[in-house]
Amino acid sequence: MDKFIINGNRKLSGEVRISGAKNAALPIMTASLLARGKTVLHNVPHLNDIKMMAHLLRVIGARIDFDGSTMTIDTTHCSYFEAPYELVSKMRASIYVLGPLLARFGQARVSFPGGCAIGTRPVDLHLKAMEQLGAKINLSHGYIIAQTDRLTGNRINFAKSSVGATANALMAAVLAEGDTLLENCAREPEISSLAVLLQQMGAQIKGIGTRILNIRGVKELHPVEATIIPDRIEAGTFLVAAAITNSTIKITNCCSEHLESPLEKLRNIGFNFILDNDAITINPGNIILPQNLQTTPYPGFPTDLQAQFMSLLTLAGGESRIEDTIFPDRFMHVAELNRLDADITVQGNTALIRGVKFLSGAPVMATDLRASAALVLAGLAAQGTTEISRIYHIDRGYERIEEKLVNLGAEIKRIQG
Ligand code: UD1
Repeated sequence: MDKFIINGNRKLSGEVRISGAKNAALPIMTASLLARGKTVLHNVPHLNDIKMMAHLLRVIGARIDFDGSTMTIDTTHCSYFEAPYELVSKMRASIYVLGPLLARFGQARVSFPGGCAIGTRPVDLHLKAMEQLGAKINLSHGYIIAQTDRLTGNRINFAKSSVGATANALMAAVLAEGDTLLENCAREPEISSLAVLLQQMGAQIKGIGTRILNIRGVKELHPVEATIIPDRIEAGTFLVAAAITNSTIKITNCCSEHLESPLEKLRNIGFNFILDNDAITINPGNIILPQNLQTTPYPGFPTDLQAQFMSLLTLAGGESRIEDTIFPDRFMHVAELNRLDADITVQGNTALIRGVKFLSGAPVMATDLRASAALVLAGLAAQGTTEISRIYHIDRGYERIEEKLVNLGAEIKRIQG
């Protein structure tokens, strides 16, 4: 297993280009199943999760060509409607094939996703939505088996804001017979970008970017060419890299509108920015001010930046609190940050972070994707050497992170295991 070795306490400088968003690309890749023919996607990041989704689509029968950052998905010969355990157990987003397969082929067999490092992550909302659209669902031998003659529009009120359930229901409803009203939808930018793509494919959707989506089902959709939106979580991670090393860096190919809450928090913590069209320059601050954060659905503060902001707040001049209302157990990084001499305690879904003067390098272990990013950030600021093992987690969601950091002047190297 690969490791990162970081020699910390160095300033960063320069520019970094943000890659396409993994969490936008994954549902859009499965949306290609809704039409017969070739979908062409640009700005697709080279990440393990993307490779795994491509593998899953190939299992289903799609032909995939990934050249540079352009992916072509040809769904002409899809004939196997299953997401097997080996893939779903490695990538929960495999559940995104459920809606498209049901809508276009009337059947899907998807391995039931288990728990993961950030807690129990049920799929009840996905399944309920499919049932409300008329699918028959059975759970058997660890698989979700779903069938329908044709889905029928309905009114669905999600009990909780869920990115995945909204995406699945939306992809199913666009080919259902009649009208569907989706209420209490997630309105993350990745959902809006999926809805816009579906519209381009010929779907009739109103209310994009709001909590209520109105969908009029159509008989068929056509494949299109589209560009994946920039990754707001990668952008937020690089902003924290600059903040935690008190450096000036410019991040390009990003969308500041998608980062309003993290930017506001960074301002409160003591940093300021220059915003250009698709670039953000962050300047050094005087001291790191303590800050309380609560993760909530978009446009609130994203749970996917919680761990990275916690690394930054370990160095604040005072006490901060971080509450994760989305994944209440998402604190696996706390014990590892404490190994670097941070002072964090967790009670329920809230971490209390007492700022320390400096972090000290130590061997630590990455436990999940965003926790790994938090450890890299802490390692960049820590005095001495930090060795991070199990970094395969970070390869799931950050494209060439060490290369991008080296270009900014960080001393980080990958040791292949
Ligand atoms: C997506 C993102 C993930 C991010 C999360 C929250 C992808 C591939 N992943 O995950 O990076 O951290 O949104 O922004 O885009 N829930 C249920 N029942 C369900 C579904 C969800 O109770 O059927 C709960 C979850 O446990 C969680 C909350 O709803 O507490 C939100 O989860 P959800 O938005 O569905 O997250 P994902 O789509 O899995």
